[in-house]
Amino acid sequence: MKKIILICLTVTIGFSQTDNNNGKLIYMKNGCYGCHGVDAKGDKDYPSLAGKSKNYLINKLKLYKNERINSNRSNIMKPFAKALSSREIENLAEYISNINKKSKTPYYYHEYEVGDSAGS
Ligand code: HEC
Repeated sequence: MKKIILICLTVTIGFSQTDNNNGKLIYMKNGCYGCHGVDAKGDKDYPSLAGKSKNYLINKLKLYKNERINSNRSNIMKPFAKALSSREIENLAEYISNINKKSKTPYYYHEYEVGDSAGS
């Protein structure tokens, strides 16, 4: 009996991690890293996203997607937001909001390489 409970726990934890990993996958697949950085911390030209609240990120992405933000540079961002489904926005926001702003993520691309089993 104990074993069964353990297996259930593992599966549950596994799933929540998958969600976060999915966000990471979408982040890499959709090229967000190209501007906002692999660690989502931005640079002098692109805003940092790491650690911003999930709701804030979801709102912003939806506003870009629906052309509700018309700042000077929003045209750069809009096509990327438009390519996202609501589910993808949700997963992305979950992932990005959990990135620790202060941690120093090494800038290794191979860490994000995507295997065959992931996605699609
Ligand atoms: C070609 C460069 C580029 C790419 C690729 C890109 N962005 Fe952006 N993003 C920008 C720019 C520029 C802004 C600021 C636009 C403005 O001033 O309104 C921005 C703004 C944002 C914001 C709002 C930040 C804030 O604090 O207001 C979010 C959230 C965001 N991007 C998420 C993403 C995600 C998620 C992806 C991938 C799906 C992505 N971006 C891909 C250039 C990019």
